[in-house]
Amino acid sequence: MSRPVLALLLLISSILCTLLSCTAPSQGQTLAQVESEHPEIIIAISYFNETLGGQVEALQAAHETLTIFAPENTAIRALPQGALANLERNHTLLQDVLLYHMLHGNYTARDLEERGAFRPKTLFDNNTVLIEANASGVTVNGYEVVTPDVFFDLGVIHIIDGVLIPPEFRSDLLG
Ligand SMILES: *[C@@H]1O[C@H](CO)[C@@H](O)[C@H](O)[C@H]1NC(C)=O
Ligand SMILES: *[C@@H]1O[C@H](CO)[C@@H](O)[C@H](O)[C@H]1NC(C)=O
Ligand SMILES: *[C@@H]1O[C@H](CO)[C@@H](O)[C@H](O)[C@H]1NC(C)=O
Ligand SMILES: *[C@@H]1O[C@H](CO)[C@@H](O)[C@H](O)[C@H]1NC(C)=O
Ligand SMILES: *[C@@H]1O[C@H](CO)[C@@H](O)[C@H](O)[C@H]1NC(C)=O
Repeated sequence: MSRPVLALLLLISSILCTLLSCTAPSQGQTLAQVESEHPEIIIAISYFNETLGGQVEALQAAHETLTIFAPENTAIRALPQGALANLERNHTLLQDVLLYHMLHGNYTARDLEERGAFRPKTLFDNNTVLIEANASGVTVNGYEVVTPDVFFDLGVIHIIDGVLIPPEFRSDLLG
């Protein structure tokens, strides 16, 4: 893993760690609170927590805003069986996939709608996702945002009905 990627992971780890492990909470709801209000994304949140949260407790939280696209449990369970097994076995892969669900910045559904169609960089290696937004809704790589604007300490979570897979992993994971 390259140093910038590692640094990024550590940064995110520290952020999620702060959110999840209940050191002094800042303003807004924590991911744990989001989880209790949105049990439909409990798997995604536990992935973030399990793979990143506990890792680097010593690091300080960095002040950065994030937009996270969180797949519903049903979308995760609908992945091909081999894909799910791979993700659970290979935490590098899982982290890469999680980073592909995150953008720098705090983009509300309304912000997205104002931009219409665009391709922002994700936190995974600058890979982009395609966002298309209008008054009737928002899609990311063709998946629908089913619940927009779940705010948390660091920004916003949009709940989506599919799992975003970086292009380079698609043939391996999705067959
Ligand atoms: C995060 O993981 C820790 C350790 O496994 C666990 O105690 C905690 O309940 C988890 N929090 C969430 C929000 O899943
Ligand atoms: C784990 O996934 C990464 C991609 O994130 C890949 O480069 C690596 O080869 C995989 N490791 C194993 C043991 O499959
Ligand atoms: C991502 O893009 C930024 C800004 O364009 C650049 O500084 C950085 O090196 C890129 N990171 C990777 C991993 O390509
Ligand atoms: C809104 O965007 C969706 C795809 O994201 C598209 O299917 C739909 O036709 C668009 N609606 C309008 C009114 O442009
Ligand atoms: C994200 O944007 C919303 C809506 O503008 C705002 O209420 C919230 O405080 C912002 N969150 C952060 C962490 O900046």
